[in-house]
Amino acid sequence: VAEVKRIGRRLDPGQYARFAGGAGHRGILPVRQTGQMTDICRWAAPGRVNLIGEHLDYNGGPVLPMAIDKGTTVKARIRDDDRVHVWTTHGGNQHTDFGLDAMPGDVDGWAAYVAGVFWVLRESGHPVPAFDLVVDSDLPAGAGLSSSAALQCAVGGAINDACALRIEPLHLALLMHRAETDFVGVPSGSMDQIAVVCGQAGNALFINGGATPPSIEPVPVDWTAADLELVVIDTGVKRGLNDGRYAQRRTECEEAAELLDLPSLAAAGPDAVLRIDDATLKARTRHVITETARTRGARRAIMAHNWKQFGAMLTASHESLRDDFQVSCMELDLAVDSAIAAGALGARMTGAGFGGCAIALIPVHQTGHLIESVSATFEHTQRSAPHCFVARPSEGMHRLSGN
Ligand code: GLA
Repeated sequence: VAEVKRIGRRLDPGQYARFAGGAGHRGILPVRQTGQMTDICRWAAPGRVNLIGEHLDYNGGPVLPMAIDKGTTVKARIRDDDRVHVWTTHGGNQHTDFGLDAMPGDVDGWAAYVAGVFWVLRESGHPVPAFDLVVDSDLPAGAGLSSSAALQCAVGGAINDACALRIEPLHLALLMHRAETDFVGVPSGSMDQIAVVCGQAGNALFINGGATPPSIEPVPVDWTAADLELVVIDTGVKRGLNDGRYAQRRTECEEAAELLDLPSLAAAGPDAVLRIDDATLKARTRHVITETARTRGARRAIMAHNWKQFGAMLTASHESLRDDFQVSCMELDLAVDSAIAAGALGARMTGAGFGGCAIALIPVHQTGHLIESVSATFEHTQRSAPHCFVARPSEGMHRLSGN
């Protein structure tokens, strides 16, 4: 840290100048007009879609996410005072700053994700200095594509690099997860940070949450060889993980596991539903048991290139999330139903639910038709057309070259 601090210089606000090289950051990047910008490092972290294995990570079950070709970039430079400054072009130009000693509860909104990174690193024995950070992203926020994990991990990657902390990727992902639970206060599982940090181009990750630390196995996904692609349908219904509904699902699962005398619900056998009387807890348990089986089956189907079977599992997963786990919504159901009617091999909501995105596996030549028919269905029900794009399995958090 001392070595890097030496090259960090105090940035006088008067020296902040327009940045000639990056249109996206014009007017907000705190870069000196003159001099070499060798002390800036740039990191990127992708968003993710979860192919299958929903609401299993905090239940000790398997999940199968993939990093996607949309994400967040961070330019980072060390300061020699004790305030972190963050600029973002995302959602309009915004600037915020907070002290290096910020504690849980001191910082709100999206900036809490950044402050949490500093907090968790310092808490775990890395006395990191303050930084100037410039954040840009092409990931929609609140859409279930892990925009907050991408933000955390791009910042964490940049700090890890700039301060030569040498934190291993999985460990970094788990630290970022701790920042989300203990600093931001969202009781999430660790799937998002692991997918965002450890993602591999061309692969999904089969993450076994039953192991400590979770084990990760890359699973090559080459549906393009079968002329298929994965379309993401962003319903535009925004959701947050801290409105209580996510936490409620998690509590229900913990209650069910306790009733069954199990350490986590994914360890339940098929007879578990017969041993629970409460209708809600029974339904939550049924989802966890069937989704665990589907996720394992989906991994096998992908490896066997059996896309029809994989597609059927996607759709069955959606039905379970809709009926048993009850985390879908009207717009997600509309998106899934119209994608299937338009020729998708399978479709489901992805992420926590309650809004956000659906995914559909569809023959390439039918994608245009899918987008048109999903848009028409939404417009027919007085909703604005969803934003659709094709997602490709991409590299996880990484350093970008140049300044
Ligand atoms: C959110 C959480 C994850 C996971 C999913 C549901 O994305 O951050 O940990 O629980 O919801 O599968």
